[in-house]
Amino acid sequence: MEHHLIRRRRLSVVSDTAPPQVASDPESLLQALGVRFPAQHSWPVEVRCGPVVLRPVHRRDRSSWHEVRQRNAVWNGPWDATMPSGGRATSTDFVGMVKNFDRQARELRTLAFVICWDEHWPRESTPGRRLPLAGQLTISGITWGSANFAHAGYWVDQALAGRGVMPTALALGTDYCFITLGLHRMEVNIRPENAKSLRVVEKLGLRDEGIRERYLHIDGQWRDHRSFAVCTEDVPDGLLGPFLASDTPRWLSGHLRTGA
Ligand SMILES: CC(C)(COP(=O)(O)OP(=O)(O)OC[C@H]1O[C@@H](n2cnc3c(N)ncnc32)[C@H](O)[C@@H]1OP(=O)(O)O)[C@@H](O)C(=O)NCCC(=O)NCCS
Repeated sequence: MEHHLIRRRRLSVVSDTAPPQVASDPESLLQALGVRFPAQHSWPVEVRCGPVVLRPVHRRDRSSWHEVRQRNAVWNGPWDATMPSGGRATSTDFVGMVKNFDRQARELRTLAFVICWDEHWPRESTPGRRLPLAGQLTISGITWGSANFAHAGYWVDQALAGRGVMPTALALGTDYCFITLGLHRMEVNIRPENAKSLRVVEKLGLRDEGIRERYLHIDGQWRDHRSFAVCTEDVPDGLLGPFLASDTPRWLSGHLRTGA
């Protein structure tokens, strides 16, 4: 796959907090950016890659949730899941949603991560629980047994768009699912009209598995989707490290020194 063709250049993270050693390969880059995957899954969990943090949604996020969702209503509208008539609706109240996400995470059916942006990184790092939410990565449909797969849905605050936050968050979440959880396959389904989201999976080198007709109810109608997937065999070194080293996201490029 394309992201295995890592350009061998010497990268170092210019930061007060990152280790001073040169990060010339995905592994040392991950180390410099504080990426660590626990050996065992527990919930709540927080994982980070530099300024991009994934953590559970908390009750105290209520006002920032409403603020960011409202501010991004037009941005997210064409891509947001909706409930078909006759569908079984779950609670739409915020506290009910948090409880529901927590229960599903403990039952290992859905991991609903909030995406946070640590604006003071790399000068200092703020724990994810103290950062406001800036998007969402939901790993749902986790299916065990001979399937061992899940699918991912996401959005990011328009104010942060274009920095490579989402490919970073998706790769981080997928590696968590592969390394810590032991899943085998991650799938992302995207409306063919969603050029910005198609770029996210393209950057990560996910395999295009074709069209699923009228696959999901989005923005009030059943919509066709293009299905993309990655399996553990496709990414023996994980998804995140090779992505950071080969297709350096904009949030990171300002902090890298290239040299011989
Ligand atoms: C799709 C989405 C998650 C991408 O997140 P992101 O963190 O901006 O991802 P990237 O930084 O990699 O940008 C992806 C593409 O968005 C476009 N883009 C860049 N800056 C942008 C900006 N300021 N505003 C809008 N789009 C921008 C570019 O085409 C970019 O590709 P490029 O890096 O090759 O130029 C985000 O656009 C979003 O939340 N959209 C609304 C909800 C949505 O579509 N969810 C996905 C449903 S499948």
